[in-house]
Amino acid sequence: MLPAETAYNITVKALKNGVYPRPTYADDPILRTQVWGLDFTNPVGLSAGFDKNAECYDAMLTLGMGFVEVGSITPKPQYGNPKPRVFRLPEHKAIINHCGFNNRGVEYAYDRLKHRNRTRGIVGVNLGKNTTTACPHTDFVLGCESLAPLADYVVVNVSSPNTPGLRALQAGDDLRAILSAVREKRAEVCPDTPPPLLVKIAPDLADADIECVCAVVQDTAIDGIIVSNTTLSRPPHLHHRHTLQQGGLSGTPLFALSTQKLKTVYRYTNGTVPLIGVGGVTNGKDAYTKIRAGASLIQLYTALVYGGNRLITEIKTDLAAYLKRDGFTHIKVAIGVDVRE
Ligand code: FNR
Repeated sequence: MLPAETAYNITVKALKNGVYPRPTYADDPILRTQVWGLDFTNPVGLSAGFDKNAECYDAMLTLGMGFVEVGSITPKPQYGNPKPRVFRLPEHKAIINHCGFNNRGVEYAYDRLKHRNRTRGIVGVNLGKNTTTACPHTDFVLGCESLAPLADYVVVNVSSPNTPGLRALQAGDDLRAILSAVREKRAEVCPDTPPPLLVKIAPDLADADIECVCAVVQDTAIDGIIVSNTTLSRPPHLHHRHTLQQGGLSGTPLFALSTQKLKTVYRYTNGTVPLIGVGGVTNGKDAYTKIRAGASLIQLYTALVYGGNRLITEIKTDLAAYLKRDGFTHIKVAIGVDVRE
């Protein structure tokens, strides 16, 4: 009943201060998986944009998330776009946002992450660029320099629709330059145990552009791809007073598009690059579908707005049941089966 961003701020505050239930569900062993040499007790993670400032990742892990991605974090703090900038479309279990990377910047996130107990769970760091930065390479490199040593994985986010020019960086030469520069910096700051480096892409890329991204990823030996961010498109059935709000659409109406793009990426990479499937996951069946479409791990955000924290346990329970129903002994065996068939 509160405005969306007010509800969000209260939720993060509660989580940060320990005000949340402790679920009793223990992850089913069938959900345990290893990706990039990291151990995940389950493959269901929180996607970027919720814990923007690395303030409540421990709480979200305690609530049952298999991993949490903090950010997007930009080198300098920034307010983001003017409010209101988050709109609920409850009938569609969807959100449209044009936040524009509101966050407290790298230094603040560094302080929030430096004392973290790494045995508590996997925390990835999603890097963005400041709106006013002319040279985007610099921002991603700066983010990597400060935060890669504290991260279990690092994401180069070139796919948010709310920072002008950002998505253009998904094109071949720019992407190659950025990923190579970040990779070099990672090697410099984490010479012994470099965290995996991922790139997060938009669902609005045409197949030819996806092919190009996949080629760059393979050429530059990037470790994974997150498919996908929010969409600027609006499905024809999306009738709501907020439909024409500017910004990225997430939640149920994004599921089909992001899953189709996930399959395309899986095909172009021949299943050789681990993928995180995100976009409209609302229940265990959706999570299972993403895995069958090529995801090694899945993430969600919008469904939590409507389903609450209880949804985490529900998704895990149902996902385990689907895997067993179809005779899979491990998640890995189910990855990409719908693409390969
Ligand atoms: C996001 N998302 C996002 N992604 C990202 O890489 N950096 C960010 O800062 C944000 N911020 C953000 C804010 C809000 C309010 C929403 C709803 C989403 C995108 C998010 O991580 C995810 O990719 C999409 O929302 C699709 O997943 P869901 O929400 O359909 O499960």
